[in-house]
Amino acid sequence: MAAKTFTLTDNSNNRSMELPVRQGTQGPPTIEIASLYKEMGVFTYDPGFLGTGSCNSAITYIDGEEGILQYRGYPIEQLAEKSSFLEVAYLLLYGELPAATELATFENMIIHHTMINENLKNLYNGFHYDAHPMAIMTGVVGSLSAFYHDSLDIHNPRHREISAHRLIAKMPTIAAASYKHSKCEPFIYPRNDMGFCANFLHMMFASPCEEYVPDPVAVKAIEVLFILHADHEQNASTSTVRLAGSSQANPFACIAAGIASLWGPAHGGANEAVLNMLEEIGDVSQVEKYVLKAKDKDDPFRLMGFGHRVYKNYDPRARIIRKVCHEVLASTGHADSPLMELAVKLEEIALKDDYFIERKLYPNVDFYSGIIYRALGIPNNMFTVMFAIARSVGWTAHWMEMIADPSQRIGRPRQVYDGAPKRDYVPVDKR
Ligand code: SDX
Repeated sequence: MAAKTFTLTDNSNNRSMELPVRQGTQGPPTIEIASLYKEMGVFTYDPGFLGTGSCNSAITYIDGEEGILQYRGYPIEQLAEKSSFLEVAYLLLYGELPAATELATFENMIIHHTMINENLKNLYNGFHYDAHPMAIMTGVVGSLSAFYHDSLDIHNPRHREISAHRLIAKMPTIAAASYKHSKCEPFIYPRNDMGFCANFLHMMFASPCEEYVPDPVAVKAIEVLFILHADHEQNASTSTVRLAGSSQANPFACIAAGIASLWGPAHGGANEAVLNMLEEIGDVSQVEKYVLKAKDKDDPFRLMGFGHRVYKNYDPRARIIRKVCHEVLASTGHADSPLMELAVKLEEIALKDDYFIERKLYPNVDFYSGIIYRALGIPNNMFTVMFAIARSVGWTAHWMEMIADPSQRIGRPRQVYDGAPKRDYVPVDKR
């Protein structure tokens, strides 16, 4: 079958060219424009890249209009219900669900990489006790290449795999340590006799003075939340990791760049911003007032946890998290949580309001997750850290996919220059 092409016609210069069309296994066809500048002397313009494909990827598929999210073809609803975070990590990294023996080997590998170099503790002492944990995460993860430089040859597949395992395994340990640092409490070592999510909660809330057994409801909730946050196609932080990785920087530096990007309130920082917003609203009686503020162009207030660059439908993850939220609140004795009541009322009013309906603004992954974290005793400033732990799997999978791609080149977007035209220097006494 003849390859599909797209005809581009330049009426002002009476010329045209055929552009090749690339069709993936799912999703819209994509016009290849790489030859456009060479053939026609023009660039394309798409600030924010919402209409631009930056790469080929086989990891995650999203349909924003239909509210569909698939990891390696598996619907997120099925993975959230039936899988585990480390099984999903294996799927995202290697492309297939593991056989029982493969999963056991992978879990064992990850668990035995959860310890961090003892000298890393000195780095924590350099942060003030009230440093934001995301600042600590960015710094500590970026420093890992100073501690684990024995496997940093990015052209060596085994080195790439070792760095990937180290990163995924150490994120919870680094995260829990940043929380303990903020409490001025001793760090808790990871335990090899615990599962990934139970281990994280143990490192967060155990103390040397008494035993701590993670609540199975909390462990399950964290498992589901980590699965839902593991990957999301070419979002801002993943694109940051890919662009940083395209210069062949080491994987720890690239993931640290992703953590920094995720921190923004327009992205992963939204879950912390949602709780701060709910606390600012304070009471159901104030909801109408704040919805008006969100609609007011002259008011910078936004309904945090609402809207999405891609989803113009209900974020499928938000639907699942909402259900988990009710289960956790009921199990932890917060069934009548005023924050949850406020969130449900806010969602109810917004979803009936023309402003939100016309702009297809629905709750996203961040709207309910913070309420769960709060019920589990995790403080607001750790919410985006939770997001980063999970997304380290997606970032790593995309980094590995990009570095292994033989066609991979350094990323280098162009621009529309609208600054001053060429002009001569003027001596200071003539200005
Ligand atoms: C994540 O990309 C990903 O995949 C990200 C993510 C992932 O898993 O990696 O899904 C995680 O980042 C989720 C999004 C978390 N962010 C928030 O919840 C912050 C609040 N949301 C907004 O800042 C906003 O909705 C964005 C940033 C998420 C999306 O912005 P867009 O698509 O660029 O939308 P826009 O700014 O062009 O807004 C379109 C219209 C505008 O109004 P008009 O100019 O057309 O009149 O909708 C309005 C906006 O003012 N609008 C909102 C709004 N979001 C958009 N109005 C009030 N409250 C909001 N939350």
